[in-house]
Amino acid sequence: MKKTKAAVFASGTGSNFQAIMEADDLPIEVALLVCDKPGATVIKKGEQFDVPVLNFEPKAYASKAIYEQKLIEELDKAGVEWIFLAGYMRIVGTDLLGAFEGRIVNIHPSLLPAFPGKNAIGQAHQAGVDTTGVTVHFIDEGIDTGPIIAQESVELFPEDTEEMLKKRIQQVEHNLYPAVIRQLLDQNT
Ligand code: GAR
Repeated sequence: MKKTKAAVFASGTGSNFQAIMEADDLPIEVALLVCDKPGATVIKKGEQFDVPVLNFEPKAYASKAIYEQKLIEELDKAGVEWIFLAGYMRIVGTDLLGAFEGRIVNIHPSLLPAFPGKNAIGQAHQAGVDTTGVTVHFIDEGIDTGPIIAQESVELFPEDTEEMLKKRIQQVEHNLYPAVIRQLLDQNT
C-alpha cells in the first residue's frame, strides 16, 4: 500500500503524535513533525520515532504570513500532502489553509461547538456537564471551528477530578484520531 506523506503539528506533550506513530496499518507516513514551542516534550518523541522535526519559534518572524511561507516551503520539500494538528495551540493562517485546502485536520478534547479554545477539559469539568468528549474536524480560520468529521462522547462522573477526566478523554483521542486518519485517507487513495 502506498502511504500518503503527512505532517503532524504539535505544541506540547505529544501523546496524540505518539498514538499516530504507534497505530497499526495507518495509510500515512509522518514525513515531518512541526513544533512551535522550543523544548516541548513532543520534540523528543519525534526523535525517538526518527521523524524529522521542524522546530520553529513564531516570535522570530516578523509576521504569521512570513513563517507560514517558510512552513509551506518545508512541507513541500518533504512531500507532505495532509496536515494533522495534534495539540497545536496556534491558529493556522490563510496562507497555510489555502495551500492545504481541505487537508488540515484537528483534534479537540470536547464535543464542539461546546468548549472551544484552551483548556477544554477544564472548562467542561468546571461547567459540571454530564457529557463531554472528543471532536475531529477539518479546520477553517476560526478557533476549533470547521466541518466535523467524527465525535465521541465521554461521560463525566460526580467524583471526577479534572485529571481523571483528562485521562479518559485522552484514551478516546488516541483511538479516534488514528481511526479517522484511516477512514479519511482510505477514501482519498
Ligand atoms: C489534546 O487533548 C488535544 O485534543 C488538545 O491538546 C491536547 C494535546 O495533547 N488540542 C486542543 O485543545 C486544540 N484546541 P498531546 O500533546 O498529549 O497530544
